[in-house]
Amino acid sequence: MRTLDDIDTIGVVGAGTMGSGIAQVAAANGFDVVMRDIERSFVENGFDAIESSLDRFVAKEELSEDEAEAVVSRIAGTTNLADLADCDLVVEAAVEDMAIKQDIFADLDDVLPEDVVLATNTSTLSITTIASATDREELVVGLHFMNPVPVMKGVELVVGEKTDSDVVDLAHDLAEELGKETWESDDKPGFVTNRILMPWINEGIRAYDEGVADKEDIDKGMTLGTNVPMGPLTLADHIGLDICLDASETLFEELGDRYKPAYLLKRKVDAGDLGKKTGKGFYEY
Ligand code: CAA
Repeated sequence: MRTLDDIDTIGVVGAGTMGSGIAQVAAANGFDVVMRDIERSFVENGFDAIESSLDRFVAKEELSEDEAEAVVSRIAGTTNLADLADCDLVVEAAVEDMAIKQDIFADLDDVLPEDVVLATNTSTLSITTIASATDREELVVGLHFMNPVPVMKGVELVVGEKTDSDVVDLAHDLAEELGKETWESDDKPGFVTNRILMPWINEGIRAYDEGVADKEDIDKGMTLGTNVPMGPLTLADHIGLDICLDASETLFEELGDRYKPAYLLKRKVDAGDLGKKTGKGFYEY
């Protein structure tokens, strides 16, 4: 197995909000990155997100223009999974769909040398089930970044049934190298964060749908009342309503009634109002 010293190039599968954020943070900390998505336009959107995030650091004079350019130049974009063949570690951040993740992991298993660790950024799906699509189950680990990745300090490490303890140590060392702090979770639905966060978000949506208060007052009550940076409806828009629904459905399937997704969450997703990323969720952007 490779150690942190052996890791020069990191592969990222998925160039969406999470994938592009992970690619940015890896490149900003000196790693070469290969960022892959299935369509050229998705890869380009990923680069746009990275550039606008870097612009914020430049505007605050935390990064010079040259440093920001150097970060972007360390990231190669591709639509071909085989271009990840020379990576020393891969983080998958594709859609939250078990069949798709298992296909990706089976392909990565074929493409990458057998000592390369494969991490997944999944927010609720089982690491053990994802790993079972490979012949290297002991080298598969959950590396769950928080959104927005360039800003949030925390990374959740998820330990699958067969994950080797050295792999967990490597994931921890890598996260620290990226300027993050970690906590460890067993491979149980939603891990620590989403197991607790999603019921909170769903209860906020239900309270809104059932007329307890208007949406601004629900968010105000929770931000001012409990000192969190975003209330449940604003946070749901920030995460993406489709992501919240996927996570809630996994929790409901595995853990039962108390995790049933709010009806209004499903209706919003069906209407295509996914939050900030589509310009409309509970609020308009
Ligand atoms: N890139 C770079 N910088 C960014 C950024 C990005 N994408 N987004 C925000 N920032 C920076 C801003 O430039 C700003 O910097 P300064 O304070 O130095 O000026 C700072 O972050 C705060 O941003 P804003 O002033 O625009 O807005 P804000 O004060 O509301 O902060 C926030 C934004 C950091 C997102 C904050 O609201 C927050 O922490 N919200 C909670 C986020 C959260 O809970 N994330 C976890 C979601 S759960 C998850 O991700 C797991 C899952 O599986 C669903």
